[in-house]
Amino acid sequence: MTRALITGASAGLGSEFARQLAAGGKDLVLVARRAGPMQQLAAELHESHGVEVDVLTADLSLPGAPAELYAEARRRGFEIDILVNNAGSEGPDLIRTRDWSRQDAYIRLMMTSVAAMCHEFMPAMIERGYGRVLNVASVAGRMTVHGDYSYGPTKAYLIALSKALSSAYMSQGIHVMALCPGFTHTDFHASDKLSGMKRSTPGFIWYDADVVVREGLEALEKGKDEYTSGRLYRFLVPVLRQRWTRHLLSALGVKL
Ligand SMILES: NC(=O)c1ccc[n+]([C@@H]2O[C@H](COP(=O)([O-])OP(=O)(O)OC[C@H]3O[C@@H](n4cnc5c(N)ncnc54)[C@H](OP(=O)(O)O)[C@@H]3O)[C@@H](O)[C@H]2O)c1
Repeated sequence: MTRALITGASAGLGSEFARQLAAGGKDLVLVARRAGPMQQLAAELHESHGVEVDVLTADLSLPGAPAELYAEARRRGFEIDILVNNAGSEGPDLIRTRDWSRQDAYIRLMMTSVAAMCHEFMPAMIERGYGRVLNVASVAGRMTVHGDYSYGPTKAYLIALSKALSSAYMSQGIHVMALCPGFTHTDFHASDKLSGMKRSTPGFIWYDADVVVREGLEALEKGKDEYTSGRLYRFLVPVLRQRWTRHLLSALGVKL
């Protein structure tokens, strides 16, 4: 049976990937730092879909975590056919947070760990001639946004990485895609700063996680290398990338 490994599976989009892949009959390996919510989800999915669900705890901001995950997956005899690199968070302000170790850990979580997960898990997929890799990026990786100054650039790296790997390995049966969601209802905006931002934005720009994940999995299967979820964002992103739109918004006092 096909087996999927999902990072950041203890909440939000990761849990939803787990739900939809389990509903499609896939065995799962769930990865995040908090075991409790993943064990609860594993029991629920095994009960409702009869699939095998294993839980591995890992902090993907630590160097070596992807290699340890791969070694553990091999030790348990898991063949991973679908890899969803989804774990992520908001980050420290690149300029104002003066502790570089926090910046370094953040960049490892958002970029290095994703490259390392591809490095560890893709060779076996290539050998078997089948694989699916979905890297969860963001619309923030497709245009200039302020925020913490690192979040968007790390997501831009995931988009470029996914396109490069897709172009190299598509002909060998491996689909690699960057999924770019816009604002999505998850735990991501639970902090004081982001929950305030969420309250101040109109409801219609927020999507539900199930829609984002469904569109993402469909696009991955079709062989796309990058996909922006949500009709609104597919329309908005090219408009917001235009220099004149940005000048106009800036003149109106809107800071992206
Ligand atoms: N929600 C949005 O509006 C939105 C929009 C665009 C893109 N995204 C992207 O979507 C992805 C999922 O975010 P979400 O919205 O579902 O947020 P979420 O509900 O906060 O979930 C984040 C997940 O990442 C895991 N995680 C965080 N730090 C980790 C670490 N150091 N090691 C391992 N796992 C870690 C968390 O698990 P633990 O805390 O248990 O480790 C959790 O399972 C992220 O990459 C995010 O950038 C989100």
